[in-house]
Amino acid sequence: VVERFPTTDVANGFFDAARFEADLIDCEVIGRVPAEITGTFYRLGGDWLYPPRFADDSPFNADGYISMFRIMDGSVDYKGRFVHTERYRAQRATRRQRFGRYRNPRGDDPDTGVINRTVANTTPFVFEGKLFALKEDSLPLLIDPDTLETLGEWDFGGTYTSPTFTAHPKIDPVSGEMICMGYEAAGEASNAVHVYGIGPEGRVNWRIDLTMPYVSMLHDFAITPNHIILPVYGLVTGRERLEAGEVHWGWDGRLPSHMAIIPRGGTSTNVRWFTGPPCAMVHVLNAVEQDGHIILDALVSDGNPFPFFPAVDGSRWCPQAALTTMRRLCFDLRGDDGMWTEEVLFPDAPGTLGRIDDRFASLPYRYAFMAYADPTRPYDMERAGPAPALFSNSYACFDLRERTMRSFFAGSAGALQECCFVPRHARAPEGDGFLIGVYSDFAERRSELLILDAQQPDAGPLARVVMPFRLSSQVHGVWAPGARARL
Ligand SMILES: [Fe+2]
Repeated sequence: VVERFPTTDVANGFFDAARFEADLIDCEVIGRVPAEITGTFYRLGGDWLYPPRFADDSPFNADGYISMFRIMDGSVDYKGRFVHTERYRAQRATRRQRFGRYRNPRGDDPDTGVINRTVANTTPFVFEGKLFALKEDSLPLLIDPDTLETLGEWDFGGTYTSPTFTAHPKIDPVSGEMICMGYEAAGEASNAVHVYGIGPEGRVNWRIDLTMPYVSMLHDFAITPNHIILPVYGLVTGRERLEAGEVHWGWDGRLPSHMAIIPRGGTSTNVRWFTGPPCAMVHVLNAVEQDGHIILDALVSDGNPFPFFPAVDGSRWCPQAALTTMRRLCFDLRGDDGMWTEEVLFPDAPGTLGRIDDRFASLPYRYAFMAYADPTRPYDMERAGPAPALFSNSYACFDLRERTMRSFFAGSAGALQECCFVPRHARAPEGDGFLIGVYSDFAERRSELLILDAQQPDAGPLARVVMPFRLSSQVHGVWAPGARARL
């Protein structure tokens, strides 16, 4: 049992619990924030309100923390708040940790009274003017987009019926339809998956019920105009490990991976299944449909990407097998061998937090943007402390048509979090705009928001928004365009 906050001996303790909420008006800027940028960059991640009960817990069990950078007329305001989940409130009321390991209630105090255990720490998501904090073990939590106050669970007017909701819903940029799903939809460790289409008016239009080959983490998926492409891989759970009190996921490197290709608005009998080698496909970039084929660009590792989800056979975590590369998977819908072909696009740019210009989700596209680990760049352990197991030191714009990349190295004493693409304006061509993302300066123990030209990241930041404190770890972020009230 952990009695104090775990102090990491890496990165000068940069990712230790921060535990504060803050408003910062008109942040200090080095350089010039482009006048075209008007909108809000929302970030969601985890920060421990109280120390985790178990030293082997997953960092994904930290309490949700949502923050925003609101950018208008060249000036930037910042706000950060804990997500006030049921669990946050129960801890705050008693001033101590009351919950056990990651997504396993067996280590909880029996009298918390908490029904929804989510920490809501994964993805901020904007749909039809509403802001949500998502984590795939719960319904979405509605968040006030200006105050960041937590407003409660959202079930789309009672039309969404699964107890869980994906961390990576997709919006069809042409129809405005949102595609989403819930897994373990019939309860803990159940093999039921419900896939939904939600119309722009915010109500479920259709649902497809699926049974998976095994119960696994279904974290992300891609859409095309006609299909949903859902990867299944060996991060698994089951009654036995949960009854034993373990973290929700374990890694089974013997299991083949699978891909479900699901017709949008169809039925479960129309689903096509493909099988591949053991691997993890935690995040995808995009998918397109072309001449009876589906092309999926995804971020794939051959082994377990997460050191804190232990192998079910007790083997040690392998950093080399965790390295994730951008790959192009091709599915022939006319063939019947049930296999896919695979090509590594950028072998020297390992990273898992890839983004696109979201206006081109499901459509033919050319550019991807990603934080990645460039092994040829230096790391200054003397100033920054021992390096984390996995971290990114560079942002790049990847031209998937020309197979070229332009890269920005952030420095030898820090790390980059996921970036986000900001279109220059609503009608700008694909990839014309800015990259924004947070740099953690391990040596100075403070953070910066970096703003770069998305087509020329190698030219360096146009602006560095210098924060006087360190920002807690981000999982994902989202850009919401448009003017809103200043802080
Ligand atoms: Fe994710």
